[in-house]
Amino acid sequence: MSVLAINGGEKVRTKLFPAYRVIGEEEQQAVAKVLEGGILSKYLGCWADDFYGGPQVQEMEKEWAQYYGVKHAISVNSATSALYCAAGAIGLQPGDEVIVSPYTMCASATAPLIYNAVPVFADIEYDYYCLDPEDVERKITDQTKAIIIVDILGQPYDVDRIHAIAKKHGLYIIEDNAQAPLATYNGKYAGTLGDIGIFSLNYHKHIHCGEGGIMVTDNDELAERMRLIRNHAEAVVEQKGVTNLNNMIGFNFRMTEIEAAITRQQLKKLKWLVEERRKNVNYIEENLKDIPFLTMPKIREGCEHSYYIHAMKYDQNQTGVTREKFVQALQAELMPIELRETEGVKINLGYQKPLYTQPMFQEKKAYGNTSYPFSKQISYEKGICPVCERICNSETIFHELMRPFMTKEDLDDVIHAFHKVSDHLEELR
Ligand SMILES: Cc1ncc(COP(=O)(O)O)c(C=O)c1O
Repeated sequence: MSVLAINGGEKVRTKLFPAYRVIGEEEQQAVAKVLEGGILSKYLGCWADDFYGGPQVQEMEKEWAQYYGVKHAISVNSATSALYCAAGAIGLQPGDEVIVSPYTMCASATAPLIYNAVPVFADIEYDYYCLDPEDVERKITDQTKAIIIVDILGQPYDVDRIHAIAKKHGLYIIEDNAQAPLATYNGKYAGTLGDIGIFSLNYHKHIHCGEGGIMVTDNDELAERMRLIRNHAEAVVEQKGVTNLNNMIGFNFRMTEIEAAITRQQLKKLKWLVEERRKNVNYIEENLKDIPFLTMPKIREGCEHSYYIHAMKYDQNQTGVTREKFVQALQAELMPIELRETEGVKINLGYQKPLYTQPMFQEKKAYGNTSYPFSKQISYEKGICPVCERICNSETIFHELMRPFMTKEDLDDVIHAFHKVSDHLEELR
C-alpha cells in the first residue's frame, strides 16, 4: 500500500510541469522588426501627432477594439495603471466612495485612493466570488460614485443585477477583467460589460507582453480622459484646449512599441489558449467527480468561464482533515511548473485575507502620517464581509495545473495526486 509523499512515500510526480510558453517565433519576429526600425516608443507628452503613441501601439489598439467589438481600446503599462486611469477618468474626487471587492488583487480595491476617494468593501457571492449585488446596494451612500467590479478567477459578475443597481443610483461601473479574457455573459465578452473595462497583460495572465494593460470603453469622453491621464495630461491640456481639469495631473503609463508588437501576436492566440484551459478543466473535473468532499466551481447561468484559476471548494467536515493539511499533502505529491519553480507547486489556499485586513486599511494610513482620505464612518473591521472571511479562512483550493501545454499525462498526474491523497486521509488525521 503506497504511503503519502508528505509522510515519506514516493511522489506521484518527480519532474516539473511544462512551462506556459506562449511567446514563440511570431513574437520574436515582431520584436526583431521593431528593434530593426529603431523606434522603441514614439510617444510625446505634449499635444502633437505622437501624443497617441507609435505605429505598433496604435495598430494594436485598433485590433484590440475590433476584436472585442468596442469603440476604444487604450493601452498602458499595466492593469494597475489602467485602473488608475479609469478612476481618474470618471472624475473621482475627495469625499467620494467607491464600492470594491475584498477578494481580489489589491489594485482593484486601492485604485480610488489615488484620487483621494475611499474604497468601501462589499461582500462577495459564496458561489462565484464576485461582488454580491445585495451587499453592494447596502453599502451605497450619497457619496458613492462608482463600483469597481472584478470578473474574479475567470468569470463575469452578475451583470443584470449590478447594472440595475448602478442605474438606480447613477454609478459608474469599472470592470476589472484582468483575470477573465473571453469569458462571456449572455454572449457578451467580459471586459466590455461596464462603462470601462480593464485587461492585464502581465506574465501570469492568459496572454502577456511582459507587463501591460488595456482599457476599453464605448464612451468618447472617458476614452480621451484616459488617454490624457496615461500621458502627462497637465502638459497637454492647454494646447489641446481641454477645459475640464478634474484629475488632469497625468502620469507616464505608456506602453512601448515592443510590448505592443508582442500583444498583437498574442491576441491571435487568445481563443486557442482559453479553449485549452476549458478542455483541461473539463478533463480534470470529469476525473475528480467521484471525490465527494470536493465541489467544482459553479458557473453562473448564461456565462462561460475562462479559468484563470480552477478553484474548488473543500469540505473539511467530510474528511476530518484540515484544508491546509490536505493541500500540503497534494503539494508533496507534485512538482512546480517550469520557469515558475520559485513559486512552488501551484496548488494553494487561494486568497487568504480579505483586502481590508491589510495594514493600510487597518491603520487608515495612505498619505503621509494622516488618516486622509479615510473617513470615520467607513469601517474596515473584521466581520464587514462575512462570506469573504469564511471563504478566505476555509473551503477554497486554487490550482493552475490546467493551463495549456499540460499533456494528458500531466493532467493524469494531477488527478492521480488528488485521488492518492483522498484515499489516504487516515494518514493525515
Ligand atoms: C484582478 C486583478 N486586477 C488587477 C491586476 C493588476 O494587474 P497588473 O499586474 O497588470 O497591474 C491583477 C493582477 O494580478 C488582477 O489579478
